[in-house]
Formats: sequence, C-alpha cells, structure tokens
Amino acid sequence: MKDRVRRLFSQISPKVDRLLIGNATEPHLDQTFFYLFDVPGGLFEGSWLVAEPEGTVHVLTSQLEEESARQAARSDPGVEVHAWGSREERERLLTDLVPASASVGLNYRELTHEQFLQLGSTFPKAKWADASNAVRKTRQIKDASEIERLGRAGAIGSRVAQKIPGLLRRGATELEVAAEIEYAMNREGASGRSFGTIVGFGPASAEPHYAPQDRRLEPGSSIVCDFGAFTLRYASDITRSFRFGPTDPELKKVHETVLAAQQAALAVLKPGVPAKDVHLAAQRVVDASPWKGRFTHGLGHSIGLAVHDGFAMNPTVDEPIETGMTITVEPGIYLPGRGGVRIEDDVVVTSNGYRFLTTAPREYLEVGA
Ligand code: GLY
Ligand code: MN
Ligand code: MN
Repeated sequence: MKDRVRRLFSQISPKVDRLLIGNATEPHLDQTFFYLFDVPGGLFEGSWLVAEPEGTVHVLTSQLEEESARQAARSDPGVEVHAWGSREERERLLTDLVPASASVGLNYRELTHEQFLQLGSTFPKAKWADASNAVRKTRQIKDASEIERLGRAGAIGSRVAQKIPGLLRRGATELEVAAEIEYAMNREGASGRSFGTIVGFGPASAEPHYAPQDRRLEPGSSIVCDFGAFTLRYASDITRSFRFGPTDPELKKVHETVLAAQQAALAVLKPGVPAKDVHLAAQRVVDASPWKGRFTHGLGHSIGLAVHDGFAMNPTVDEPIETGMTITVEPGIYLPGRGGVRIEDDVVVTSNGYRFLTTAPREYLEVGA
C-alpha cells in the first residue's frame, strides 16, 4: 500500500507529518482505513491507522482482529501491526507513533466528533489539518487491483440482473423479490449487499430511493430493481427496469428515452470532460422528450470501497472526469403515481472513453404476467 500512502500524502497541502485514520463503531467506519490496509475481513471498530509520508502504515488493532491483521500484513511489507488490549494501551501506542507537536492530517468527513475531542486531549499540542479532500481525490483514481475487484462486483450484479425476470411472479411482494436478489448475489459470490436493495412496483418505481414494502406484483406494473454486491470490500451498483405485462406504450417509450439518455452521456464520457457536461448530455435527451423535467437526480457517483464513494456527476460539478475513475451512469424518468424507469451501470474511465463493469441487457423487457 506504500504507493497509495505516498499518493495520498502528495495531495495534502500544506504538507503534514502524519495521517491518522480512525474507525469508530459500525457504521462509522472510515473506508480509507481499508484503502490503506488491505485486510479481507473484520470491522476494526475503535482501530486507528497511522500513515507516514514515506509510505509506512501502522495499524492499531484490538485483539479481536489481531490475527486477521497480522495475516494481511504478511503480504504487505509496508504495514506494521500493533495490538492493544485496553483504551490506555491504545492511547500509549498512538502517542508513541505520533510526535506530540506533529502536524496531522485527519479525514474530517468521516471522523466522529467524539473521536476528534478524544484526539484533542491525547495530543494537546498537535496541529490538525483537514485531509478529506486529498483522501477523496486519491481514492477517486482506482488502481488495477481495485478495478479488478470492482469488475468482479459488477459481474455479480450483472449475473443477478439477468435472473430477475425469473423472480417476477404475480403476487410476489417487493420485499420477497428484494430478498431473492440478495440471496442470488450471495450465491454468486458476494459477501453481502452494498446498500439496501430497492425493488419498487407500479407507482413505487417512480420513487428513486424507495425502500421495498409488502406491495404485491400485479399485471400492468413497471418495476425498478436497484441493487449491488460487495466483494473483497468493493461495491457494485446496478439498476434494471422491467415491465410486468401487458404493454404500456408510454412506459416503453420512457424506457427507450432513458436508454438513449444513458447512451448520450456515455458518448461524451472521457477524461478531461467536466462532470456536469456528462450529466447535461443525458438531461438534454430527457428534456427534449415529452418527459421534460422528470429526470430528477444527478447522473451518477463514484463507486469503490463505498457505494457512494465521494464524487458526484450532476449539473453543478465542474471537476473533470479522469482516467481510472469508476462511476455509475444512471439516468431515470419518474412519472409520479404511475411508474418510473432507471438504467444504471458502473463504468471505469479509460484514456479515451470508458469500459463497462456491468453488462446485463438494458433494453425494454416485458415479462409475461
Ligand atoms: N442505489 C442508489 C444509487 O443508485 O445511487
Ligand atoms: Mn443504484
Ligand atoms: Mn447509484
């Protein structure tokens, strides 16, 4: 991980002596910890990571995960593991590893207020610096091993997406279909879901961040399924939309428009293009259709150790797309009270465009009722 640590330090300005990354209690875990320490399992609650500018990483772990930590460190010569058995031992390790009046970078976006107060009393002379932008920018550009894992997570999502038509039975509830999607992901090799699975039938499909309920599938419903897998800590995020017959000509047109919007965004997606231009390429297609204004969210977000990994593509973001970013492209059209369509794929940005990480068919599909 030395390379990641050095890249991260090079983004922090002005320079700092140490970078300190801490985990509180689930769900307040900073995925940056796992970015700099590649350990396959464990929560590492209450653990700290001290990184040094030349690349060394010290992992302070409780005895709960000591064995996993030591095993992971065996394949990374840049990592030193220190186990603590009490809070006092942990404080002592921290004060041994971080000079008392050091300038220390912290990830302000993830650190809890309680952790910050505690650090203040452990290091009354330290100078804190906000390293959160450097963290985001470094994590934004994925290396080959991250892209490989994201590809695996995407492949799980794609295989499961293709099974969904077989799960759509008259009378099945949204919660039942969501449970079957999650079970299928685990069967395909996922360690779990990367976020709460969305399955919406009929009017519920018009709500982008809907949570499945006990609504039953009836003929004449639009269906949106938005789900993702974690594998080796990396996420996928895929949405496919279906029609449970009979045909609704308007929603078929809506589907074709969303697909055209996604294709328009992908056609301009390449390094150097401002993120907002990619969003606007999709939005223009929707706004030229009868459903002007019904694409109600940003086009996508970066994906990595977290499903929402820090970068957004929406009409306000000037920051350019860069090679090595992994992002979702997810336009949608939502007709309140009637139904919606969203098509979401994960892509990696290449030197001259992009490559899909998710590949399941995107075309309008009517499932027999
Ligand atoms: N699952 C929420 C999203 O697609 O961002
Ligand atoms: Mn999604
Ligand atoms: Mn998404």
